[in-house]
Parts: sequence; structure tokens; C-alpha cells
Amino acid sequence: MSQLQKKENVRNMFAGISKRYDFLNHLLSLQKDKKWRRYAVSKLPSGYIIDVCSGTGDVAIEASKKNRVIASDFCFEMLKLCKPKLEKKNLKNVSCIQNDAENLSFKDGTFDGAIVAFGIRNVADIKKALSEMNRVVRIGGRVVILEFSLPENKVFRYMYYLYFKKILPLVGTVISEKNGPYDYLPASVMAFPKRNEFVGIMKDAGISHVEYFDLTFGIVTVYVGDRIDKIKV
Ligand SMILES: C[S@@+](CC[C@H](N)C(=O)[O-])C[C@H]1O[C@@H](n2cnc3c(N)ncnc32)[C@H](O)[C@@H]1O
Repeated sequence: MSQLQKKENVRNMFAGISKRYDFLNHLLSLQKDKKWRRYAVSKLPSGYIIDVCSGTGDVAIEASKKNRVIASDFCFEMLKLCKPKLEKKNLKNVSCIQNDAENLSFKDGTFDGAIVAFGIRNVADIKKALSEMNRVVRIGGRVVILEFSLPENKVFRYMYYLYFKKILPLVGTVISEKNGPYDYLPASVMAFPKRNEFVGIMKDAGISHVEYFDLTFGIVTVYVGDRIDKIKV
């Protein structure tokens, strides 16, 4: 499958589940997703932040408590669900912009920090998206990635796989009334680079001082790195 085709498939898939996305997110993560996002946001510097692959905007909303935020996603159907949430909370410091993570329409060094939550796994070219996040933050700025991981403890991993590969796809499919997306979720997590491999991709993308933090027995990992150099052309 070409990268263009993967992008189109991913965009259509999220457009298809957009209306049930938030509900299923909270349900299937047993409400842990809020805590994970809050932790990832706590790793950002204060200032002007871009939330890449922002979907319905939960990270942007969390980050807006202390920052001015751009919420960006290439799926219009996901992004448009962010707007009513902003209005309900009367948040004026978040703007939503339709943008491709692999080709952000912002100048170098625009932001103090860039964050992506549960999005990097879905982009067609991971290194390109990470390079873009690094490019749009200022020198000294920060890049934060929150993504699913595979737990390292064998016993816990066995129980987790049972839930993640069997129960979650069933519940997700029934509630979203869509075949596919909730099979794609565990499959894409299994295929995602392991922690150290992902750290290597971040470094190849030009991000420095990379470290990571596992949360909830290693179900998710928060990767943090800094932009310290001018982008080489
Ligand atoms: C699993 S959702 C995550 C949404 C949100 N960040 C959250 O924490 O719930 C993944 C999002 O990534 C977006 N996405 C995937 N590839 C993208 C790309 N190349 N450019 C922009 N958005 C992309 C999808 O449209 C989707 O909204």
C-alpha cells in the first residue's frame, strides 16, 4: 500500500468513528486516557503549543490551561468536534487548523512545544512527522509524544493482550458500528516500534536529549526530547 493510500485510509477511518471516538476512548481506556494526556502535557514548556494529530482536541484543551494552543489534524470530521468542546468551556486560546502532520504549515521555530498523543502511530511517515514537529518548535523548545506501548511484565502482558486483542475490538466494533478500526488499533500498536527503536527514530528526526517514561505498567509511554540545533538543509 502506498503512503498516500495509507493516509487516505487512516483519514477515512477516523472520519467514520469520529462521533463515537471520545466515548470509546474513555470507556476502553477505563478513563485512564485523561491521566495519560495530563502527564504528557505536564512535560511541555509554557508558551505557544501545537497539538499535532489532535483529533477532537483533548490534549489541546488540557494544554490550554497554561498555554496558547493550535489543535491540528488532517481529518476534518475529528477536528470539527473540537470546536463545540472549546465553546462549552469558553476557551478562547485554542485554534483548530486542518493540517497534515507530515507537512505542517508553520514556519520554523514558531512554537515553544509540540505534542502528539496517540497520533504518531497513525501517520504514514513517522520520521517525517517527527522532523516537522522538531522544525516548528524553537531552538530550546520541546517535542512530546504519547503513544501506546507493550507492557514488559510477562504476566501483565498476557492479561493485557487478552483485553487488547479480544475484548477491546469487540466492544469497539459494537459501539462504533464499524468493522475495522478497533481491529486496526491493536494491530497498529503491535506493529509500532519498540521504545528504544522509537527513541532512535526521534534522534534521526533531529530531536535531542530524548528520554521516555512508562505509565500504567507500560501500556503507554511518554517520549520527551528537545530541539537544540538549527535544522540542517
Ligand atoms: C487516535 S487519534 C488521536 C487523537 C487525539 N490526539 C487524542 O489524544 O485522542 C489519531 C488522530 O491522528 C490523525 N492523523 C493521522 N495521520 C495524520 C496526519 N498525517 N496528519 C494529521 N493528522 C493525522 C487522525 O485524523 C486522528 O484524528
